[in-house]
Amino acid sequence: MNKTIIVSNRLPLQVQVNESGKVTAKPSVGGLATGMKSVHRDSNGIWIGWSGVKDEDLTLEIETKVNQAIEKEQCIAVKLNENDLDNYYYGFSNRTLWPLFHYFLEYTEFDKGYWESYVEVNKKFAEVVIAQAEEGDTIWIHDYQLLLLPAMVKEKNPNVSIGFFLHIPFPSYEIFRTFPARKEILEGMLGADLLGFHTYDYERHFLSSVKRILSLEVNFNEISYGNRIIKVDSFPMGIDYDKFKNAALQHQKQTEVEKSEIQKRLDQHLKEEAGVKMILSIDRLDYTKGIPNRIRAFEFFLKKYPQFKEKIRLIMLAVPSRSEVPQYQLLKKETDELVGRVNGEFSTVSWTPIWYFYRTMPFENLIDLYTSSDVALITPVRDGMNLVAKEYIATRTKEDGVLVLSEMTGASKELDDALLINPYNFGEIANTIKQAVEMPKEEQKRRMKALQKRVSRYSVEKWAGEFINSLKNVKQNLADVIDAQAITSQKTNEFKNIMQSKESKVLFLDYDGTLVSFQKNPQDAIPDEELKQLIVQLTEQPYTDIVIISGRDKKTLNTWLGDLPVSLVSDHGVSYLPKGKEWKNLETLKTDWKENVIPVIEKFVDNTPGTILEEKKFSVAWHYRKADPELAQRRLVEIKTVLTSFISNTDLTLLEGNKVIELKSSKVSKGRASSLIYNEKKYDHVFALGDDWTDEFMFEDLPEKTISLKVGLNKTKAKYYVNSPKEVRSFLYNLVS
Ligand code: ADP
Ligand code: G6P
Repeated sequence: MNKTIIVSNRLPLQVQVNESGKVTAKPSVGGLATGMKSVHRDSNGIWIGWSGVKDEDLTLEIETKVNQAIEKEQCIAVKLNENDLDNYYYGFSNRTLWPLFHYFLEYTEFDKGYWESYVEVNKKFAEVVIAQAEEGDTIWIHDYQLLLLPAMVKEKNPNVSIGFFLHIPFPSYEIFRTFPARKEILEGMLGADLLGFHTYDYERHFLSSVKRILSLEVNFNEISYGNRIIKVDSFPMGIDYDKFKNAALQHQKQTEVEKSEIQKRLDQHLKEEAGVKMILSIDRLDYTKGIPNRIRAFEFFLKKYPQFKEKIRLIMLAVPSRSEVPQYQLLKKETDELVGRVNGEFSTVSWTPIWYFYRTMPFENLIDLYTSSDVALITPVRDGMNLVAKEYIATRTKEDGVLVLSEMTGASKELDDALLINPYNFGEIANTIKQAVEMPKEEQKRRMKALQKRVSRYSVEKWAGEFINSLKNVKQNLADVIDAQAITSQKTNEFKNIMQSKESKVLFLDYDGTLVSFQKNPQDAIPDEELKQLIVQLTEQPYTDIVIISGRDKKTLNTWLGDLPVSLVSDHGVSYLPKGKEWKNLETLKTDWKENVIPVIEKFVDNTPGTILEEKKFSVAWHYRKADPELAQRRLVEIKTVLTSFISNTDLTLLEGNKVIELKSSKVSKGRASSLIYNEKKYDHVFALGDDWTDEFMFEDLPEKTISLKVGLNKTKAKYYVNSPKEVRSFLYNLVS
């Protein structure tokens, strides 16, 4: 039976070994682990990750115990040593990626050693994943610690379905571009077939970086990448709603003796004075969570509205996290000092304004806190999602309580019935706290009902289900779109036999995008020595003619390829240079229209930086490869509208190539030219290789027996496809070897 393999840095449980060698396990904290736990529980899959114990602490005996503990939970360990933890985990993951992706550029450290370790540890994960993955399995990789893993797995196992989900924000291009390893990171992520983000904003930032940094073609939310189409989408992660709701319902039925110590203290506090209210915040102690801002805003609230002194208490639960990273240590110090300052300033004999806990708590105590608090105050300065907000909602079974939520969280995009605040605006937070504690019950109910409707509908099960379904669809859709076939080794042999036979054959070879890769400047695509030799080898095959058929002009083709024993066709089929003879025109064409159209295109060049006008003898082209992709897309629509109206009632036609549009006579096409040449000798065999629209005319007009090959995965009339100019060259090598 096919299985789902979840992969993340941390497993859902953290194993610990005490000094006497006793092995214990406790649940991991953090949104990823708590959210995915229920998905894993309900599947027959496995979860691969780090156990929590470093190699140096593993004796044979301890390792056996650790493995037993995690295998009980259907988990498999990736072994990490102290160096890995220092450089990959505390280093690159948490001193580079985490701050950068949360817009803390000033905290971001780029260190070569961290990066190398990150690559190495991603490889360690890849080895374990590859060893576990079987035909038909689905691999679901999670989060920023493993951004290189999708490509590493895809390389070894191209047919396996890989999904990737990022649990933190993807920053805007302007931030991401500062990152030295930006290209490698994007290429690593693009190993996945489906990439998921919590919100549309993160998705859009990612696509913008892909377009600008990798210059890839993006169509809505699909990326064309070599032979693959990768889908990108947003899936806002939910929680195990029933688990929290049922726990809250159970909690209501507790008898006095069943209550926890914390609950008893909370009850006592509520009993002390009528009308006292409790405000709750829960987070990992992380600088992204806006903890100091929250304390300062609460201080400001007490100063601005002194009537709430002795009436309101802030309960702050901060879970220790990444305490070896200096910024977390500083944050701990700052938080302690701020709590001390506020408590020192405002406390009375019977009242301390902030109760501050710095520890993890068992699930039951979280429920105590959620159910006893009138307000949840969640103020991150940046947060991918924030599940605590959703957990608070799920536990409010009496439909009361108020959620105050930072608009910098992913969750705020869905939870607009919460009171949304800007975490940097203390005045606004103070006023919103007042609004929250004074909110009439009816309004609480109206808002809470709406919030519960959303959070209960889009639970973590639903989230995971939609992600996995979408991943299945990516594979299916790809199969539906592409009619052309990959070339099997059997076919290669067949073609090789044709090449070696005494029958006549002609090969029509497009140049740019087929024999050579695209360059940012069209004039840089000069043929290399390797290509020239390959072409010569092809011409040495018996009874074989080679025709290089290009949109380039005669001059360029002469300079670049004139010394080779081949025929040349220029300007998409206007002129023809039969091997060893003189250029002749295949068509007689007028060119007077050019002087009218050039000023129009020049205007677009002026207002679209990075675009180029190329004037050829019989055509004019506008190249936009180097332009900002989004601006170019907009201008393309405009220029097409202008040029289409210009060509009505003329015999001109507008062709769209790869990041270029070209205006030329409709009497000219590579289809007409190649057919004319074919008809001269009526060859026994025809090969046609090309990559864009202009080549489709060849595939269409040449005789049915043509062995046609398209570079790239797009809808095509060609019979076969390859992925890149590099593969075209190997295909041609195979024909002559
Ligand atoms: P992050 O993923 O950045 O830590 P989230 O709010 O998305 O933030 O997720 C935090 C998760 O950790 C929640 O599911 C919450 O219940 C859990 N959690 C928070 N504090 C504790 C704690 N003290 N003990 C146990 N689990 C906790
Ligand atoms: C966030 C991240 C997770 C991470 C968790 C806890 O939720 O998105 O990937 O596991 O924080 O952090 P830690 O560094 O302790 O694993």
